[in-house]
Amino acid sequence: MKFFLDTAEIDDIRELAATGLVDGVTTNPSLILKSGRDYFEVTKEICDLIPGPVSAEVAATDYEGMVAEAAKIYDIAENICLKVPLTIDGLRACKHFSDQGRMVNVTLCFSAAQALLAAKAGASFISPFVGRLDDIGFDGMQLIEDIRMIFDNYEFGTEILVASTRHPIHIIDSARIGADVVTLPPKVLRQLFNHPLTASGLAAFVADWEKTGQSIV
Ligand code: E4P
Repeated sequence: MKFFLDTAEIDDIRELAATGLVDGVTTNPSLILKSGRDYFEVTKEICDLIPGPVSAEVAATDYEGMVAEAAKIYDIAENICLKVPLTIDGLRACKHFSDQGRMVNVTLCFSAAQALLAAKAGASFISPFVGRLDDIGFDGMQLIEDIRMIFDNYEFGTEILVASTRHPIHIIDSARIGADVVTLPPKVLRQLFNHPLTASGLAAFVADWEKTGQSIV
């Protein structure tokens, strides 16, 4: 399962990329706003730091507008993945660019029917938002199970990119189901490393090692 970082914060991306565990990045207009950075500048910096797919979202909501913006967005770097919303115009743009062999991530997916449409439109990635479904009392992970079954039934090449993840359990459940990618806020990726028994066990080993008076290097 691939790990993407869901952020436009360069410091977090640089720090976590150093672990060698980051396969890509997803951004959206809200994350760009939060970063306080220029869209093109920050996206280019992210593309230079991470060789994998970097999702950059269109702002237009009509097909012609998306196509016009895409020309500038794809120009940012080779590893740009155009992010379009799950609307009729968005899927039309997805089909247009997928047919040209470009990477497209279809975002704001909240149903299996929508995921099926995105796969038929040739999306490289479909982004179901599990956290936002949980927030309104629906089972976000059930949607991932349904999409996995549908994509396997028809051998769709579209990768399931679990988005709107909020905690480590979303990540473990995604791996159990066999999702292709999870996109994680930096905080959630950091949480995955932690276990209290690791921390207390390491503290004991460090203390005992000091008592031996030995040195390895
Ligand atoms: C995915 O690509 C989106 O950027 C993101 O996961 C949305 O997460 P949120 O629901 O926490 O805003």
